[in-house]
Amino acid sequence: MFKRMPKIVLAMLAQGLALALLALLVLLASHIIAPPYPFWLLVMVQGVLAAFLSCRLGLPCWWRWIQFALPVGLYWGLQLEINPIWALLIFVLIWLIFSNAIKERVPLYLTNNTTREALKKLARKRRKVRFLDLGCGLGGNVVYMAQQPNVARADGVETAPIPYLISKFYTLMRGGDVYAMDLWNTDLSSYDVVYAFLSPEPMPKLWQKVAEEMTPGSVFVSNSFAVPDVEPSEVWELDDKRKTQLYLYFR
Ligand SMILES: C[S@@+](CC[C@H](N)C(=O)[O-])C[C@H]1O[C@@H](n2cnc3c(N)ncnc32)[C@H](O)[C@@H]1O
Repeated sequence: MFKRMPKIVLAMLAQGLALALLALLVLLASHIIAPPYPFWLLVMVQGVLAAFLSCRLGLPCWWRWIQFALPVGLYWGLQLEINPIWALLIFVLIWLIFSNAIKERVPLYLTNNTTREALKKLARKRRKVRFLDLGCGLGGNVVYMAQQPNVARADGVETAPIPYLISKFYTLMRGGDVYAMDLWNTDLSSYDVVYAFLSPEPMPKLWQKVAEEMTPGSVFVSNSFAVPDVEPSEVWELDDKRKTQLYLYFR
């Protein structure tokens, strides 16, 4: 039942249950040691209980660090009289960078150099390549591919505001083009190599788009996330630390 709930609701539920448990513990403890108890101790216990419950309720276990830090951070924020506007500013900044983590379940992380070299190798087998990075992050792949001699055009699309602005500026300085466009609205038919480094979530829907729009002779490359139930034409396992797998789908 819990697994189907949105993660943010589960996280709030864990904090609520932790608070109820804490109240019970305080009630029991009051029979042994007379209250009041130090606030810092209550806050620590709240954090530990919420972290423990988060894992038990089915949130990914790394959330326990956030769940612990939340009450403890609030407590210290109040103790140190930090202006709450900072929390708002940090939230807005995170949203401007990672908005697609909420909307599309695709956060921002970047392609490494070994993978870029593999893309170069793939492009080298072709002439006048038109390359597209779907969700181009900070624009590194677009610039790199734009600088390859056999690449005629390197484009990227990005909707998260800060990554878009950075990639736009970077490509203006170093080559390639970036558009503030949702990847679902791009026309894939004019590209020979379409690259995506997204998450498991959009892959089935993205495959439909690839199958409808990409033309014969082109290739769709997905970093790390295979299309479910579709046999890739080739899988390249790269010699980097994370043993990156590139799934190649020739059209
Ligand atoms: C994992 S990052 C990869 C960044 C870059 N392609 C790279 O490999 O270094 C995925 C990027 O896709 C962007 N993204 C997610 N959904 C998108 C959408 N619907 N339209 C455009 N960009 C999107 C995210 O904002 C994020 O920057």
